[in-house]
Amino acid sequence: MTGSLLITRIGELVTNAPADAGTAAGPGVFAVLNDAALVIEGDRVAWTGLSARAPAADAVVDAAGRAVLPGFVDSHAHLVFAGERSAEFAARMAGLPYEAGGIRSTVLATRAATDAQLRAGLRRLAGEMLRQGTTTFECKSGYGLTVADEARSVALAAEVTAEVTFLGAHVVPPEFAADVSGYVDLVRGPMLEACAPFSRWADVFCERGAFGADEARAVLTAGLARGLQPRIHANQLGTGPGILLAVELGAASADHCTFLTDADVAALASSDTVATLLPGAEFGTRQPYPDARRLLSAGAVIALATDCNPGSSYTSSMPFCIALAVRDMRMTTEEAVWSATAGGARALRRTDVGYLAPGARADLIMLNAPSHAYLAYRPGVPLVRTVWQSGRRVSAETRLPPAASHPGVVAPGGHGGHVVEGLAFELFPGGPRVAPRLPGDHPLEALVERLKLAGIVGAVAAVPAGLDGHAAALTRLRGRHGCLLRNQKWCRGGPPCPRGPAARR
Ligand code: NIG
Ligand code: FE
Repeated sequence: MTGSLLITRIGELVTNAPADAGTAAGPGVFAVLNDAALVIEGDRVAWTGLSARAPAADAVVDAAGRAVLPGFVDSHAHLVFAGERSAEFAARMAGLPYEAGGIRSTVLATRAATDAQLRAGLRRLAGEMLRQGTTTFECKSGYGLTVADEARSVALAAEVTAEVTFLGAHVVPPEFAADVSGYVDLVRGPMLEACAPFSRWADVFCERGAFGADEARAVLTAGLARGLQPRIHANQLGTGPGILLAVELGAASADHCTFLTDADVAALASSDTVATLLPGAEFGTRQPYPDARRLLSAGAVIALATDCNPGSSYTSSMPFCIALAVRDMRMTTEEAVWSATAGGARALRRTDVGYLAPGARADLIMLNAPSHAYLAYRPGVPLVRTVWQSGRRVSAETRLPPAASHPGVVAPGGHGGHVVEGLAFELFPGGPRVAPRLPGDHPLEALVERLKLAGIVGAVAAVPAGLDGHAAALTRLRGRHGCLLRNQKWCRGGPPCPRGPAARR
């Protein structure tokens, strides 16, 4: 933008402004101004205050009572990968536990991908984030796990963000299964050397099935010696040493914090290490949500982040995570929005984002709603209307990409003998709509009739495999309803499903 821009008649301006903007080193507590205005000059916020007192500017945007917030700061994401794991997700929803091992299937796909394919996937997800209001995001490596594949992962991430994290210690790759210490030596030696020039952070998945405390300490201290600041995936699947190690090493953040001992909570509360909570991962793995209230009562600082990754949390949506935090983690709307903005900035040790006051980077979003509370009050609704990043308007009237050309839905079968229950229907055209998951024995034909009555003209179905009643019903439905169930693709037995026998209209 050249010249100044005044955004006026803001119904609610979330500022998170520091108490003393003159000397502030980053955001303060949650704070709002009503009937407010804000001036952008260049890439910075130049002024905030009441609309009635706003100075003149070169251009004016009338917010007409809408809310304006700092852009979201997503401090935990894994965006450099190839492939997808929807079948693993579906199997999990049918009762299988989440295990660290699923990461290895993404590693195989990532190694096989070209740079162009990885770059395209990364940019698609970064674009999704931006359209949903995320103006700063962290991005980890961790699906390459060779020197060359980790180096290209961090190099690609550095093309789109300054917050690049080296996560060579994500899991032990299959070729090192019998030599874990050999792999740790590779990570803290040549792999770190190749990745450090592109990275600001080093991270370790410190968890059963991944790396223990000694291995994590070895990697993170080597990273520190190379100038990379530590952060740790800790206590996602159970209690363990990760939180105390994060505090011991002065990590910027301990991420997940799903299972915490009293000592973990006390250590977080008395340190500068932020507790980064990732409710998308609990949603996607059907684990209990972290106890945000326990952390807040103890005085810990919480960041909310998406953990966007193809395994445990394939969402790029901070608004979705805010809604989960409010509904299921009992954070207030103010706490959740603060944690998704200022909290993320703290977890990345950034003093220029996460708040709106003179001097802050002009990263802000306007909602199609009068207050921040609507992010949780209207879950799943694309409320982010306009995004400014470094003072530049990057999107107006944001829309999520259309889902009309959905490739078809997996009909799982034979995933280790599991029957995946549930039906998902999608509309053509007009974007996605998912019917409620139905328990047990689906009255399939009756459901389709109901959907037809509701004006639905097309559907894709995920079908329990090995249930002959359903197979027969689907065959009848294909015959009877023509375009209904187009794109249906299904198979019976023999993973992986998409390569099984398929029936398409
Ligand atoms: O944050 N915990 C480790 N990493 C990811 C999971 C990655 C995956 O399942 O592919 C996480 O949940
Ligand atoms: Fe993660």
